[in-house]
Amino acid sequence: MADDLITMDDLTNEQIEALLKDAEKLLPAAKGDVYLPLLEGKLLGNMFFEPSTRTRMSFETAMKRLGGNVVNLGALASSSVTKGETLFDTMKMVDGYCDVAVLRHPRQGAAQYAADACDIPILNGGDGAGHHPTQTLLDLFTIKQAHGKLNLNVVMVGDLRYGRTVHSLSHALSRFGANLTFIAPPALSMPDEIIEDLKASGANITVSEDLVSNLPSADVIYMTRIQKERFPDEDEYLKVAGIYKLSRKDLKDVKESMIIMHPLPRVDEIHPNVDNTPHAAYFDQAFNGVVARMALLCFLFGVDISKEVGK
Ligand code: CP
Repeated sequence: MADDLITMDDLTNEQIEALLKDAEKLLPAAKGDVYLPLLEGKLLGNMFFEPSTRTRMSFETAMKRLGGNVVNLGALASSSVTKGETLFDTMKMVDGYCDVAVLRHPRQGAAQYAADACDIPILNGGDGAGHHPTQTLLDLFTIKQAHGKLNLNVVMVGDLRYGRTVHSLSHALSRFGANLTFIAPPALSMPDEIIEDLKASGANITVSEDLVSNLPSADVIYMTRIQKERFPDEDEYLKVAGIYKLSRKDLKDVKESMIIMHPLPRVDEIHPNVDNTPHAAYFDQAFNGVVARMALLCFLFGVDISKEVGK
């Protein structure tokens, strides 16, 4: 792997497969059943310029469960960002303080910009409507745990235009032979350049606006939130808000093994009456952020999981 993780192109398929195997070995440590201080003495900087619950907290959990430590930029209002400090200068500080940093930023390309400014590894925790590669690692892990393979029928639903999780995940899944169905209204369709890239790499892609007719053949349904904060105009958001909603009554013809995923947070895309069906995988998925990020951090710091945890 390159020192930085900005997009999934920074990882080879072999590296992704190795990380998924390592993540499985780290499950007991992620749950706190065993203590493995593999990252003792290492310090991670959590640099979040946009809200986050899962990415920020699971990186912190991953580091601390492995004996490492974390410093947070904290609320922007109490940082020097409010005094006008630039992203470049802020990242220069964390470059001196920490051994690795996670950056979430509203601007697409910010993670690459920070990586160019820093010597320590920069992990992209989401850059605007760009990429979210560490989310993809936990998504792939969740799919592999449920189905044992990745060459499946995966249906992605909702905000495919601004959704960085689906941008990164579609790239990765296409490399492992998945069939991808993109379901969105025209205003939120997967960007043409991403579809062209995926097709050029041999991906099998179907585009539709209809969720219901695509449910029976799905192995994975990946719901996403319509991201109000990315719309330049609130009226445009209101035209598509609430367009796709999945409820228990929609699941009568789905495959028994089908899983429903969502990067979370959800608003109204998945009714709570789905939560206690065997298809609901989104809370396990969120937990998997800890093991996936543990595996990534160990890899970055050259820790051999097989040696430490056994084959
Ligand atoms: N999935 C995800 O990125 O969640 P957060 O925005 O809470 O980090």
